[in-house]
Amino acid sequence: MSVSPVKTPEVMSYEGSGYKKDFWEGKGRDYEDRVERIAIRRLIPPTGKRLLELGAGFGRLTDLYEGYEQVIVLDYSHSLLQDAQARLGKNDRYVYVAANLYQLPIADGVCDAATLIRVIHHISDVPSVLKQIRSALTPNAVFVLEYANKRNFKAILRYLLRRQRWNPFNREPVEFVKLNFDFHPAFMAEALNGTGFTTQRRLAVSYFRLGVLKRLIPTSVLVTLDKWLQPTGGMAAYAPSIFTKNLAEGSSPAGNFDGPLFKCPACGATDLAHQEDRLTCEVCEAQWAICDGIYDFREPLK
Ligand SMILES: C[S@@+](CC[C@H](N)C(=O)[O-])C[C@H]1O[C@@H](n2cnc3c(N)ncnc32)[C@H](O)[C@@H]1O
Repeated sequence: MSVSPVKTPEVMSYEGSGYKKDFWEGKGRDYEDRVERIAIRRLIPPTGKRLLELGAGFGRLTDLYEGYEQVIVLDYSHSLLQDAQARLGKNDRYVYVAANLYQLPIADGVCDAATLIRVIHHISDVPSVLKQIRSALTPNAVFVLEYANKRNFKAILRYLLRRQRWNPFNREPVEFVKLNFDFHPAFMAEALNGTGFTTQRRLAVSYFRLGVLKRLIPTSVLVTLDKWLQPTGGMAAYAPSIFTKNLAEGSSPAGNFDGPLFKCPACGATDLAHQEDRLTCEVCEAQWAICDGIYDFREPLK
């Protein structure tokens, strides 16, 4: 049987990008990294069975999930996953998966936590990705989602001074550069609610992400101020970055941790025969490569 490729929305490719070197290393973003870590620690349960780190990149934040028995490190970029593997090592605690968020190869109800940090701004069809994530989670699993907030103070000021055309108060996502979106908190709340999540907590993060402040004020001071301000996000979310803690709705308490971990992204079957260099779907016969310890579900083998 041949496998017809499923059309998904366009993916922002980081393949071969210098995301680690060009964006983080020595680039004056210690403040952002530190406040994001504080926010995640506040929202994610410290221990659990299996955490799904979606759009993990080079594994910048993966050390935060040490309390989980297993972490699925998933990203579309094979080269960033290789960086993550070099950082975290090849062992059973980490499962490296190259896959598209629009077509997740994770079996239903097999993870009790998930994170999506600095990723959803590349997603044009938010509900379809949130549905995929919800399916991979057990009821009551915690899903920590970060999104770029279009209704932030800087955008509001620029709009009032007529230096920006789009309206930060309008609910629709704004694509300010191709495949880069900012979202209104009301839009994201509705999208989460409509895809089987209940938002429990919201933090306003990174208020001081301004070059001039970062140059003039010591990072530790900005981090402390940010830490104090984060909880105000529940009432007033005007920071550039919003972190949310969401519970997967559903009644069955049991997780499915001992069954198959993957499903075929082409047909959804979980009957995947494991050979050394590939997984073969026993239902649609699609084959998915395993290369240097990375499962590759982006395109079936020809
Ligand atoms: C800005 S980086 C963030 C990486 C990491 N979460 C962090 O905070 O350091 C965005 C990541 O999302 C991944 N990504 C974007 N679209 C994706 C998609 N459709 N499926 C899977 N990964 C995707 C990119 O490959 C990239 O690694």
